[in-house]
Amino acid sequence: MMNNTLSEILLDQETIRKRVRELGVQITRELEGAQLCLCPLLDGGMIFAADLMREITLPMTLLPLKASSYGDNTSSSGIITLPWGIPGAVAGKEILLVDDILDTGRTLQTLQEQLLEAGALSVRTCVLLRKEYSKEKSADFVGFEIPDKFVVGYGLDLAGFYRNLPHIGIPSTLVTESERKRA
Ligand code: IMP
Ligand code: MG
Repeated sequence: MMNNTLSEILLDQETIRKRVRELGVQITRELEGAQLCLCPLLDGGMIFAADLMREITLPMTLLPLKASSYGDNTSSSGIITLPWGIPGAVAGKEILLVDDILDTGRTLQTLQEQLLEAGALSVRTCVLLRKEYSKEKSADFVGFEIPDKFVVGYGLDLAGFYRNLPHIGIPSTLVTESERKRA
């Protein structure tokens, strides 16, 4: 059974809240004059995006996109799938892509390319976390640089679990094969 507990907390609720507020202020200032189309990457980016969008005071619309790269493992499969595709509605929009974490950077890069191909006017990227080893890959807006560890909580999952934790840390349980299948 998954117990939803962590062996270590890296970022507590208040630390996250404060940083999300700062990011909102920074985005509002740097993208002044833009009419944004905010695209949370589901599933992981939805919690962060929901908090972040209320800290940005620019006019915006919301268009969630779905991407998956991890399968059920704790290391990237490297294959990005977009089960909903890219909606035509992105054409002509100033996109702000919002994801939970930048690991290899492949997810954001793939999405960015496909959105531009589909006619987006511009595509900026925002992630709450960035693993510090992913040196050459970055995003326009980054919340925290974190060590190269597998983390969960605040939208981030392990085989579908842990997303509802209000803080971020290292999971204390390993996932059994049957839990993986059920997630
Ligand atoms: P990338 O394409 O390698 O940058 O992977 C980004 C995606 O992998 C994110 O959207 C997450 O869903 C997932 N991911 C990467 N690192 C972690 C982690 O430490 N915990 C949970 N999910 C992760
Ligand atoms: Mg994930």
